[in-house]
This record gives sequence, C-alpha cells and structure tokens, in this order.
Amino acid sequence: MTSFSNTIEKNDIIVSGVQSTGILHIGNYYGAVKNYVNLANEIDNPMYFFIADLHSLTSHPNPLDLMHSRYLTLAIYLGCGIDPERATIYYQSDVYYTHELYLYLNMFAYMGELERTATFKEKIQKQADNVNAGLLTYPVLMAADILIHKGTKVPVGKDQSQHLEMCRTFGNRFNHYYKKEVFKEPLAFTFTDNLINIPSLSGKGKMSKSDDKSTAIYLIDSDSEIENKIKRAVTDAGPKERNSPLSEEMISLFDIMRVFSAEEIVNEYLKAYADCSIRYGDMKKQIARDAVSTLAPLRENIMKYISNKKLLQDIAYAGAEKANRSARITLEEVRDIMGLTAKNINLQSSN
Ligand code: TRP
Repeated sequence: MTSFSNTIEKNDIIVSGVQSTGILHIGNYYGAVKNYVNLANEIDNPMYFFIADLHSLTSHPNPLDLMHSRYLTLAIYLGCGIDPERATIYYQSDVYYTHELYLYLNMFAYMGELERTATFKEKIQKQADNVNAGLLTYPVLMAADILIHKGTKVPVGKDQSQHLEMCRTFGNRFNHYYKKEVFKEPLAFTFTDNLINIPSLSGKGKMSKSDDKSTAIYLIDSDSEIENKIKRAVTDAGPKERNSPLSEEMISLFDIMRVFSAEEIVNEYLKAYADCSIRYGDMKKQIARDAVSTLAPLRENIMKYISNKKLLQDIAYAGAEKANRSARITLEEVRDIMGLTAKNINLQSSN
C-alpha cells in the first residue's frame, strides 16, 4: 500500500498540526503552513489545523515561552492566509477528547515499536537527560490528534511518515480488537509539485528550530535580519574547475534560491558556477532581495494578527468549539465500543 497521496477525495477529512516550539521558519511555511493555506482555499472538505502545544511539552518549555510561541504560531497560521471560516484552527490542548483518546490508544501501542521510532532514537541522543515517557509516546498523541476527527489525509513532510505509519497501526489494532471499523487509515498528503526541502543556512541538513538561530529564516525576521542571515550562509570556496559538481553547501544555497528566485535567474547562476564565473556575494544579494520581497508582506500580515489579541482569542475559541464537536462524536463512539458507558448494558442477558 502506498502511504502518500496527492489527491483529495470527496469524503476525505484533513488533519494536521505544527509543533509550537519556538518561532516558525520558512521550512515550516513551505513544508506545512503553505499547504494548509492552499487546501483551505481550494477544497471544501472538513479540515482541522491545530497548534500542537502538547507535543512541545516533551522538552519542558517554560510557561511564558510556551504561551508566547503558541500565540505566535496562531498569528502565523492566520497571517499566512489560512481562512478560519474554511478551516478549523485550534490549540491542541483545548480539545480534551484528544487527551482521552491518547490514553486509550496507549493500550494499543507497544514498548518495542515506540522505542524503535526514528524520532525517539534521535531525541535520546539530543536530550539524554530528559528521556521522558511523553517523548516515547509522542507518536500515540499524534495518532490521537488525527483519529479523533477520523482524519484520512494528513498534509505533512516526509519526515513524519513513520509517525503516520504508527497511527495506522494503532487505529487498525483498535478496530481489530473491537471488531469495528471505527478508524480509517490516514495517508500523508502532499501536493505533487510541492516537495521542497528547505535546507539550513549552515549548508548541512534541513532548517530546524532547534539549531543555531542564524541558520534559519524565521517568518517574523526583519528585512535586515533576512539579508544578514543570507549573507552569512555557508558556501564552499568556489568552483575550481569548469563543470565541477555542486558541493553540499552549494546544493543547499541553490535550493534556497529556488524557493525565492525566478527559474531563469537560478539557471544563470548555475551556469556561472559551471563556468567558474560565479560570485557568491552577488548570488546572496539576489537571494536576499527575492526573499525579502516574498517574506515582507507575509511578516506584515502576521504582525497585524499579533497585535490583535482579542481577534486571536475569538478565533481560537471558535476553533476549539468546532474541533470539540467533531472530537466528541468520535469519543462517544469509542467509549461505547470499549465498554466505558452503560449504554449497551442488558441485565437479562448478563445473568
Ligand atoms: N509531529 C508533527 C511535526 O513535528 C506535528 C504533529 C503533531 C502533527 N500531531 C500531528 C502533524 C498530527 C500532523 C498530524 O511536525
């Protein structure tokens, strides 16, 4: 079975979220948020886009930071153009039914498979002094996020495919044990032409919230911050021979250029690299100019939302209400099936 899909069917339910640790960067925007905006604009299916504030608790953020980053993430969702009338936008922690489903699904998640999750193994390396059970069961909470709305399409990057696989496993085990098709199998969704991977400005790996701040372009960076970061992006020492292959650093820089600059311009610079006439300073100036012209209007829009606390609160409240309505229906069905209600008790037949 393929685990990726690039089509949306009539009865698909779309669910996705971004973890609210720190500030979102252009990798989050092109990898996730921009897809949400497109989906909300183009498709009439039910869709739920939440701010995964509970997932960020695994790294023990201080409450003030968490409060700010979840608020900022909401402002970014809206400022980037997700229409809250067309998509349900909410804070994950506002939907308690998800927390409850997480508990039930934990009964169907096994230690061995949780310990084998790639992201968990990575985390043990990165935060060896804080390997908590929340980290271990991160994929279970993610499954609860999706299954609580009976989600079928999940717009996420490739790095989440193992988590989605686990979500299908937990849902299937539940269905199998209770002999009822409660949960459908959710697939990762991606627009075909949108598989852009945003590299780090360090020239190594992808852009990440947990790396040095100078290696990521944040959606609220000022024009001069964007310019300075691009200016300092790591390059190689320049091509030594004609037609030499791109170094790792230059593959990254060209990938960033492709996001912001027109194709002809990118090709011009590729040609200049091939004939050794390239000037990295000029290339960076070009990228910075194009990046600023794309990102400045987004930032201004985000700023408008940031300063409108009342509007943000109203939107979060309305979103939570809508999400809770959908979640409650699933959860009541789940409780019934599990025997956690009195609904199906038949005293005569149990004697
Ligand atoms: N794990 C996702 C990430 O790091 C965030 C996330 C949490 C999510 N729950 C989800 C994404 C449910 C999609 C669906 O990006």
